Amino acid sequence: MNSAVIVLAAGRGERLGGNTPKAFAHLGGKSLLARALEGLLSFPGFGWVQPVVSADDLDRYAALALPRDRRLAEPAIGGAERQDSVAAGLAALPGEFDLVAIHDAARCRVEPGDVAAVVQAGEEYGAAILAAPVRDTLKQVDNGVVISTLDRRACWQAQTPQVFHRALYAEALEKARSDGFLGTDDAQLVERLGMGVHVVPGSPGNFKITLPEDLALAERLLLAEENAR
Ligand code: C5P
Repeated sequence: MNSAVIVLAAGRGERLGGNTPKAFAHLGGKSLLARALEGLLSFPGFGWVQPVVSADDLDRYAALALPRDRRLAEPAIGGAERQDSVAAGLAALPGEFDLVAIHDAARCRVEPGDVAAVVQAGEEYGAAILAAPVRDTLKQVDNGVVISTLDRRACWQAQTPQVFHRALYAEALEKARSDGFLGTDDAQLVERLGMGVHVVPGSPGNFKITLPEDLALAERLLLAEENAR
């Protein structure tokens, strides 16, 4: 199949603080978005890499030092919700790409081996995600009181990339739109069609940068990697 990846960077990332939108925040002197794009371009299986940014950030995007690679497309303009941004990215993909990966720029440390594994599973099964088993015991809480303890062995934390046959994902997105449903990831939309989503174990280092402490942790990991070289 012909694979493309949509790289979502149109959120504000308010929980990170500061004035810069999250995807343009710096980690070791380089923006999260530039890092994510470089990581994805290093996977030769993607024939098209589609960034999605906010209309307010086009100047910021133009100022990034990005690899010269004919697979890197002009950015699509994102929407108010993450799901709107995915739809904009999907609409920008040429018709020949029939396998679509969707990735959050905020997971800027994704490893090429994990990308290859989830793309292969997506092609084989129609829908696949990277996910990490949870380490903590999970409590379901209502109004500050525990209602139940979930079976930890059955719980995984969803990551990205999430990879789908394009026609299947387009159908899932259309159903979500007509139902007025907003998901927190893309697999959820496909699950609503009753389709099985295959889980590929991802690295714990593929965490999403959300809070200032996530950025601080990523900086420490980067420094440790540089010192180890
Ligand atoms: O806010 P959160 O970290 O969950 O966002 C996940 C990813 O989705 C981020 O990379 C963010 O830039 C992107 N996003 C988007 N358009 C939105 C909201 C979020 O592209 N409207």
